[in-house]
Amino acid sequence: MQHATQVELLKRTLSLIERGVSDCAEQPSALPVSVYLDQARFAREREQVLRREPVMVARSSEIPAGHFITRNLLAPLLLTRDAHGLLRGFLNVCKHRGTQLVDDAAGSNRVFVCPYHAWSYNPDGQLRGIPGAYGFEGIDRTCLNLTELPVGERFGAIWVSHTPGPALDLQVFFGEQICADFDSFGTTHQVLFDPKDMHRPVNWKLTIDTFLENYHVQKAHKATIDHLFWPNLGLFERCGRHIRNYYVKRSVESIRQQPQSDWNIRQHGNLLYFLWPNTLVLVEPDHINVSTVFPDGPLATRVLGHTLLDQAPNSDKALRYFQKNNALLYAALEEDFAIAARVQTGIQAGASELLWHGRFEPALKWFHQSLDAALGEQRVIEL
Ligand code: FES
Ligand SMILES: [Fe+2]
Repeated sequence: MQHATQVELLKRTLSLIERGVSDCAEQPSALPVSVYLDQARFAREREQVLRREPVMVARSSEIPAGHFITRNLLAPLLLTRDAHGLLRGFLNVCKHRGTQLVDDAAGSNRVFVCPYHAWSYNPDGQLRGIPGAYGFEGIDRTCLNLTELPVGERFGAIWVSHTPGPALDLQVFFGEQICADFDSFGTTHQVLFDPKDMHRPVNWKLTIDTFLENYHVQKAHKATIDHLFWPNLGLFERCGRHIRNYYVKRSVESIRQQPQSDWNIRQHGNLLYFLWPNTLVLVEPDHINVSTVFPDGPLATRVLGHTLLDQAPNSDKALRYFQKNNALLYAALEEDFAIAARVQTGIQAGASELLWHGRFEPALKWFHQSLDAALGEQRVIEL
C-alpha cells in the first residue's frame, strides 16, 4: 500500500481511538433472515452472481505452460495453458451427452478423451474426433467444441466467470484502489503455502459475514486472537462492490512515538479485503491469507484457503513460524464456523424475521446491498 495511504489510514485510526468510536454508518440497518433460508434466493445468488462474476479458482503458478488443471467449484472446470502461456477455461463437460470429461486434477496437455464414447478434444477446446462420425452427420461441428469461459489473471491468481461471455477486464473489475493496493503487496509473485479445503454446514453468506466485522472478536475469539486487537475498532471503506477494512491492533498507539515516515500499517492491524463476490484476503504483517467461499448447497459452505508468502520457507524455523501463524488463524476461523453454525440453527428457529447490523458493522450492509443490487432486489432495510 502506498505510504501516503498508510499514513492517512493510520491518522484516521488514531483519531477514532481518541474519540473512542469505530468507523460508523449513519444508522443501524436490518436484514431479513429469509436471505439465508430462501432456496429460490440461493438459486438466484448462485446463477446470477456467483456463476457470472469472476471468481478466483487457482494460482497462476499452478498451471505452467503446456499444462492443465481441473476444478469443481460452481461447475466442473478445465483450465489449460498452451506452450505460449495463453490460458483458456472451459466447462469440463463433453458435448455429446454431457459427461464430465477430464478426471485428473492436473497434468501435461494432451488430447482429452471422453470416458463414455471416446469423443476427443484438443487442449484449445476444439472437438478433435468422433468415433463413428457418420452417426452425427448434419450436426454443426462448431457447436460441439468445449464451452469456453471468460478467464483472466491478476494478482498472481486465475479468475473465471462460469458463464460464457466477453473477455474479463479485471483491471476495471477490481478498480484502481484494489489494484494499487494488491500490486504494492507483491501478490503476483508470491508463493502458495498451506492450501486448505474446508466444508462446513452453513449458508455461504454467513461465512463471509464473519469476516466483515470485528465487533465479535472480543467475545467469540477470546481464546485465540482477541488479545491482539483493539476492541471493536476498525476502518471500513467501500471500493465499488469490493470492501477494504482495517482491523486495528492494540500496538497501534506506539506509532505516536514514531516519525510518520516509519509508519507501517501492516504492523499494527490486519487489512481485510472483500473482493466481490466471494473472496476474502487478510493482509497480515509478513504474509497474506486468502479464502474463497463457495456454496455447497443452500445450507453448506466450502472454503478454499491458502497463504501467500514472499518466498517459500527456507528453514525449519521459518516453516514453524508460518505454521504457527496459520494454526492461530485457522483456530479463529473454526470459532467463526462454530458461531456461523449457531446462527444457522438460530435463524431457522423463527425467533424473529430480522437480523440487525450495528453502525460499526457497515461492511455487512454493503455486502448484502451489493447482492441485492446484483439480483434486482431490496432486502437490506436502512433505518
Ligand atoms: S458423452 Fe462424451 S463421448 Fe459420449
Ligand atoms: Fe472471526
